[in-house]
Amino acid sequence: MAEFALDGKSLITPEAFLREFAHPRPVAFETQFEEAAAHMALILNFAHQQFVAEAEPAPIINRVARELHKIRLKYSGSVWQALIPLAQQHPVASFFLQDPFTRWSFTKPRGYSGDAHLLDFIYRHPSADNDLADASDLGKQLYASTSDSASSQAVRERREILAAKVDEVAEANGPGTEVFTIAAGHLREAELSKALKNKKLKRWVALDQDPESIATIREKWKGTAVEPLDGSVRTILGSTNSIGTFDLVYAAGLYDYLAQNVATKLTQRCLRLLKPGGVFLFANFAQGIADDGFMETFMNWPLLLRSEKQMWSIIEGSVDNSIIDANVYFGANHNVIYGVVMKG
Ligand SMILES: C[S@@+](CC[C@H](N)C(=O)[O-])C[C@H]1O[C@@H](n2cnc3c(N)ncnc32)[C@H](O)[C@@H]1O
Repeated sequence: MAEFALDGKSLITPEAFLREFAHPRPVAFETQFEEAAAHMALILNFAHQQFVAEAEPAPIINRVARELHKIRLKYSGSVWQALIPLAQQHPVASFFLQDPFTRWSFTKPRGYSGDAHLLDFIYRHPSADNDLADASDLGKQLYASTSDSASSQAVRERREILAAKVDEVAEANGPGTEVFTIAAGHLREAELSKALKNKKLKRWVALDQDPESIATIREKWKGTAVEPLDGSVRTILGSTNSIGTFDLVYAAGLYDYLAQNVATKLTQRCLRLLKPGGVFLFANFAQGIADDGFMETFMNWPLLLRSEKQMWSIIEGSVDNSIIDANVYFGANHNVIYGVVMKG
């Protein structure tokens, strides 16, 4: 079980991730590893030469991301995991790390992967403007590519989908509407919500384990229906009598760090927080995304990517007879997958 995601602090580091999800080594590990390492070295050496020659950065990073994805797909999980430190130690890394988004992800200033400021790079939010202004020209050009990757586009769409869901539920339930966001980060979807702007919500509880993110939400939304809540998944799995019930409960950017059994337990708990007619939504990066290799190496950002089947298995392991409908669907470019459950 992924205890690190349940410790109340959720310091989700790549080391903890690897400990939890290490792949067993195949018999032919050494031979496969040598071949894969040589293959990857060719790609990275060439990219390095191109950076040194000051070639156009977008084709360099796009090719490296494409090739890393192929290598990740071709070799066994344990071979790929052994390649990650080699990529990170390659001299080409010093070029990729000039991109402030890649550097933030790699260095993890908040001590864990996937913090809310990282998401602000993806959202191209003004709060990341200073980091961008301080970047080298190459860094700025690389950021134009990383913030435009398929996974970044999907996360921006996810933000819109979340805001639209809040508005739809508010429209259906009227002024008593109560929303609960788990792992809210900076709650950037609230900036897009018409229901919040037009004061159509009774309350919007936003929980996160990072006090800095909670402080940002508190500052931004004081005097509104938004109620920041400093707490973790553990808070939800423990006693939640004081939280109340909701018309909409959702989590985005959280399940990607939760093992299947923990994800199922959390889903069971969330379904109990729904009022009759309530909706639960959870999002996860999808298996097979093109950016997986670049994210796991130069961004040092491993994620648990899920298939439709795995999303369904979380739902099937969570529902009781109060549930009337459920669905699993992809976002526009298939990089993010959504599970939705409706209570009768
Ligand atoms: C990738 S961000 C997503 C933020 C936001 N939901 C969004 O979509 O922009 C992940 C957030 O989950 C929070 N988080 C991670 N593990 C958590 C846990 N066990 N309990 C509560 N929050 C958690 C982190 O602090 C971080 O703000």
